[in-house]
Amino acid sequence: MKYLLILLSFILALPSFSQNLPAGDDAFGTKKYDQFEKPKSCYSCHVDIYMQWEQAMMSQSYTHHWDEIEYFDLAVAHAEKDPSFKGPVDGCNGCHAPLSYLAGDVPPPRPEEGSRANEGVSCDLCHTIVGIDTDDDYPYNYSYISDPGRVKYGTKPGLESPHHDTKQLDIYGEAEYCGNCHNEKSPFGIWVKSTQIEWSEGPYGKDGVPCHVCHMPKAWGRNAKMADEDMVAQHLFHGAHDPGKVAGAIELRMHPDIREVEYDESVIISVQLFNGKAGHKIPTGSVEDRILWLHVTAVDADGKEYHLPVDKKGFDGEEYTIAADVLAYVDMGIPKGIADFKGVQRDGVPVGDRIFRMPYFDPNGVMTIMQWNTASLGVDYRIGPRETKIETFTWYLPDDIALGRVTFKAELNYQKLIKPVADFLSVPEDESEIMPVNTATTWIEVYD
Ligand code: HEC
Ligand code: HEC
Ligand code: HEC
Ligand code: HEC
Ligand code: HEC
Repeated sequence: MKYLLILLSFILALPSFSQNLPAGDDAFGTKKYDQFEKPKSCYSCHVDIYMQWEQAMMSQSYTHHWDEIEYFDLAVAHAEKDPSFKGPVDGCNGCHAPLSYLAGDVPPPRPEEGSRANEGVSCDLCHTIVGIDTDDDYPYNYSYISDPGRVKYGTKPGLESPHHDTKQLDIYGEAEYCGNCHNEKSPFGIWVKSTQIEWSEGPYGKDGVPCHVCHMPKAWGRNAKMADEDMVAQHLFHGAHDPGKVAGAIELRMHPDIREVEYDESVIISVQLFNGKAGHKIPTGSVEDRILWLHVTAVDADGKEYHLPVDKKGFDGEEYTIAADVLAYVDMGIPKGIADFKGVQRDGVPVGDRIFRMPYFDPNGVMTIMQWNTASLGVDYRIGPRETKIETFTWYLPDDIALGRVTFKAELNYQKLIKPVADFLSVPEDESEIMPVNTATTWIEVYD
């Protein structure tokens, strides 16, 4: 029995070979760029996977315009003014330019200089991860253990390749693998990105349906030119930058409480919003930047249009979930070097619309989009996986309403970056484009 225990503890200790390798902040500067192969060298055999990856945000995590602007104009500039942010700001690269972080080359050269930072989250970075090292219940802040070399890891056992060795590792099929970069803690200890945590607390996590099912769906084909046909994980990583992924993510229906309404009465419109498509909350990820909002209008028999503000529910912090004419994001003034900066418009969408979001607050309690400067979070009014929220709109028919049919329309829209912030920082239009998620209609008849 004693020997069995010793043997057992020896076997259990084996996987810890990877525990000797550094992860997270400890991995800074422990590798060299040339330990990692370039994505182009994978292309010669893994053609489709390469082309998919090249179109996905993974390959653009360093070069993409908004990343460059936020990193250099806000984050790096902020750390220059306040050196206590230097570590966290260097850490941006642990997820966005991992090769540079591991090589200790920060800030990396600007994208236009064409350095290896531009490879972003590359093939070889992802396929030489051998474990997770976290001090929390969840992986976060680049807690992956990197061990670049001849062995490329994946979910399939016993594959043979002329270019490299292969090895099966369970983590490649697990959501925690993604959580290494899709969970983030700010220097104030606040979860400023929690996609994998939201997933694990929700129905998909409980049912064991990992991220891969929706973001790396499997299809019949070849994963390499010379491979046999099999089910192959597509490297789509499609998210908020794909209008088709966002479209229909929330289903929308609406109805009035009464169909025939006297001209001097009121009607209550109820709207149901069902998150039937995402494995996490919507919005998720860069929640500090993203909003989802519901705009409801009525058109009477004469074609006159009215905007309906949402009914208040009365929960704490609700004021952040109803569009208003107020300023926020004052802390951008620090990196931008603007004394007495008053901020920019908080929402940039029609006043009175319901916004599904979670506000991030700077140390002064003002809303911020600088997630590294986030000291607390506000009310979480996002729509959880398989959750249905109901919004109501009580409408007292206007005095001059035309008799006959009134048609109501609900429009649910998504924006990756709040428009007033995008305009202030000169971020290209596509980052703040309005992405339609869904619409619904209903009607009433107004009589004398
Ligand atoms: C000369 C061709 C060739 C090149 C170049 C190549 N591979 Fe492969 N790779 C293969 C073949 C063949 C397989 C096995 C396919 C099969 O049998 O399904 C494979 C399998 C894999 C697997 C699956 C491992 C598993 O166990 O699930 C990964 C991951 C992988 N390669 C990553 C890479 C990466 C990353 C690069 C670039 C750094 C690369 N490969 C370059 C040919 C190549
Ligand atoms: C963000 C990390 C990530 C990046 C970037 C990435 N992969 Fe993968 N790859 C994975 C994961 C995770 C799997 C396993 C998916 C599964 O089985 O559900 C995988 C699977 C594979 C497979 C086996 C596919 C199969 O099902 O047979 C190959 C081959 C592969 N990747 C090659 C590449 C190449 C080449 C690149 C770059 C062009 C690349 N990967 C980029 C994470 C990544
Ligand atoms: C090494 C870090 C890293 C790992 C591991 C990783 N990601 Fe990512 N992922 C990123 C970064 C960084 C971005 C943001 C790219 C950008 O827009 O700058 C991103 C973007 C994405 C997007 C696109 C989001 C959008 O806004 O369009 C999806 C989807 C995604 N990842 C899914 C996954 C899944 C699923 C896994 C696990 C199989 C995974 N990621 C593993 C770092 C990572
Ligand atoms: C049941 C399917 C499903 C599962 C499981 C799932 N997602 Fe998603 N994901 C979606 C859909 C649909 C969207 C588009 C709607 C949106 O942007 O939230 C999305 C969006 C995203 C985005 C972009 C969010 C944004 O607003 O920028 C990221 C990043 C992402 N997913 C990562 C993950 C990760 C990491 C996991 C696992 C921990 C995961 N997803 C699990 C369906 C899924
Ligand atoms: C723990 C990993 C991690 C760290 C650290 C991190 N990011 Fe990210 N970042 C991501 C992921 C993953 C996404 C994609 C989330 C999504 O699509 O909603 C992202 C998205 C972004 C986006 C939005 C990209 C877009 O196209 O909409 C910007 C800008 C950004 N990060 C900048 C930064 C800056 C600046 C820092 C450092 C202060 C930083 N990030 C630190 C993982 C990280």
